[in-house]
Amino acid sequence: MTDSYNSTPAAKGAWKVLFRMCYQPNKALFHKLIVMALATAVIDTSFTLVTKAVVDDLVELGAQTNLLGYGLLYLVLLLSFVACVWAFIRLAGRLSTELMYSLRKQSFEHLQRLSFSFYDQNAVGWLLARITSDSSRIANVIAWGTLDLFWGVPLIIGIFAVLLVLNFKLGLIVLGILPLLIAVAWVFNVKILKSSREVRQTNSRLTAVYNESISGVQTSKVLVREEENLREFKGDTKTMYHQSMYNLLLSSAFYPFINVFVSLGMGVALWLGGLEVLVGTLTLGTLVAFMTYTRTLMDPMLEVSAKLAELQRTTACVERVIGLLEVKPEIEDSDELKAEISRLKAMGIDMVNHEQDIETIEFVDVCFAYKANEPVLKNFSLNVAPGASIALVGATGSGKSTVVSLLCRFYEPQSGQILINGKDYRQYPLEWLQSKLGIVLQTPFLFTGTIMSNIRYGNLDASDAQVIAAAKAVNVHDIIEQMEHGYQTQVQEGGNNLSTGQKQLISFARAIIGDPQILVMDEATSSVDTQTEEILQRSLQAVLKGRTSFVIAHRLSTIRSADTIVVVDHGEILEQGNHQQLLAQQGAYFNLYQKQFQTEQQEELLTQS
Ligand SMILES: Nc1ncnc2c1ncn2[C@@H]1O[C@H](COP(=O)(O)OP(=O)(O)OP(=O)(O)O)[C@@H](O)[C@H]1O
Ligand SMILES: [Mg+2]
Repeated sequence: MTDSYNSTPAAKGAWKVLFRMCYQPNKALFHKLIVMALATAVIDTSFTLVTKAVVDDLVELGAQTNLLGYGLLYLVLLLSFVACVWAFIRLAGRLSTELMYSLRKQSFEHLQRLSFSFYDQNAVGWLLARITSDSSRIANVIAWGTLDLFWGVPLIIGIFAVLLVLNFKLGLIVLGILPLLIAVAWVFNVKILKSSREVRQTNSRLTAVYNESISGVQTSKVLVREEENLREFKGDTKTMYHQSMYNLLLSSAFYPFINVFVSLGMGVALWLGGLEVLVGTLTLGTLVAFMTYTRTLMDPMLEVSAKLAELQRTTACVERVIGLLEVKPEIEDSDELKAEISRLKAMGIDMVNHEQDIETIEFVDVCFAYKANEPVLKNFSLNVAPGASIALVGATGSGKSTVVSLLCRFYEPQSGQILINGKDYRQYPLEWLQSKLGIVLQTPFLFTGTIMSNIRYGNLDASDAQVIAAAKAVNVHDIIEQMEHGYQTQVQEGGNNLSTGQKQLISFARAIIGDPQILVMDEATSSVDTQTEEILQRSLQAVLKGRTSFVIAHRLSTIRSADTIVVVDHGEILEQGNHQQLLAQQGAYFNLYQKQFQTEQQEELLTQS
């Protein structure tokens, strides 16, 4: 899987876009945080000035120094400092939570609007994982980064300003160690972050190997892969050990290294400052202030450089999130249509929930390809009369599912048209079309929740009785009742606790509960045993009455009763007609029927014996 969305625009200026997006709705929080950070920086600087004043007074006034006054001042500063720190930690925490929430919400909402073709190119699991972890990382960096930058940078500037005012020459000397300090801190931070990332990557690979070996234990045993798995695991653990040790070494060397530089600066200040004190050009208090400030400088320096390095490392995340938010859904209502919908809405007419019925459907010379130069449908033309049932037959990969995907407008034809009631279906609101459709997909998907809620998903207003009626209509009621908790049975993630046949029946009930005008079933009965299928067949007749239907099935018994059987071959219609007509033609359908008839008869004989 690639590390970016395929249609990602140049993510230049991604930070700017992101910051604007985060800043606008949280202005107040940002401002409060900045004020608190600045206040903390000011108080941080003041402490040393009090110390300086005390020392100078002690030297000059001796016992007459107002120690109590200074003590109280110190206490006030301390209390304000504590209050500010408490406030900014709370504010930054809140800001980071708010940002994370809004980033995730926006990304999820956006993902829901994107077209199927987007998901063909980007694995959903990977997308979701990136979004969740990227947004939390970004939110943290922005909230705490804002805090550290607005505290650290003014503090550094403030300290230097005070030093230069107190003693210009000495101030310049201390200032001299600054570039060195920044360079060392930067190099270390980049190296540490890079190494931590490597450790994390190895760790997740290790977890995956571990996980697979355990969940795939049956397969590995059968294939005698245990030795090999163990070797892989050992190799990765060794790499992890070396990477972790290196990371530890870097982290532990960082602080002492910085300390050496700071202490050198202090040493120089002490030496030169001491000389000045001796000749009386510098007060003792100022020297103490110089020493303390030089040491105080270390904290903001470390924080700011760490945050800057992190900011740089997060750029990739930001680009990913912004890139995703900027991907346009390929299939959506045209701007004119959107304008029309809102114009009519203002007049009290609802285009989306319009009652208008779907009468005729026509495929006119439809051509379609998932990938350029690999045509899947070629000049596909088909007329569907109101209420007709269409059966699509053909070899695997011939394009049957693609036909119904286009009908549902999950994809759109690249050339040719699909007409509904004689009008190109792109001229109708997408939501209107999809609300008229009931779909049972080849790979049925159930959501986590009860069976009841899964069926109700097709019509959120349905009562329990309606849900049960839908289940009865497709004969899944008895099957559900036999389960331990009946309709309240919990569907596990992806419906793993149900058989594919059960899942298909449940999604069939879900499809018909919305009373759709067009019913699309992609091999909905392929995983149901012959007996269940027969029951389903009978109920199907009733359900399909008055609806247009597209049924894809490999079992010919399912399609025999269709009004029109369409034999699809390599994306083209080979034959078309009802069962009798096609048999009489003695063509592809005839051959298929003969072959299938034999196997199905054999199957029946086998199940009976
Ligand atoms: N999402 C996709 N991206 C790229 N190619 C696809 C995609 N879906 C289907 N195809 C390709 O399009 C062709 C037609 O696929 P389609 O799923 O329509 O066949 P089908 O007739 O439904 O087959 P089956 O009977 O196996 O379900 C195949 O060659 C398939 O590999
Ligand atoms: Mg298919």
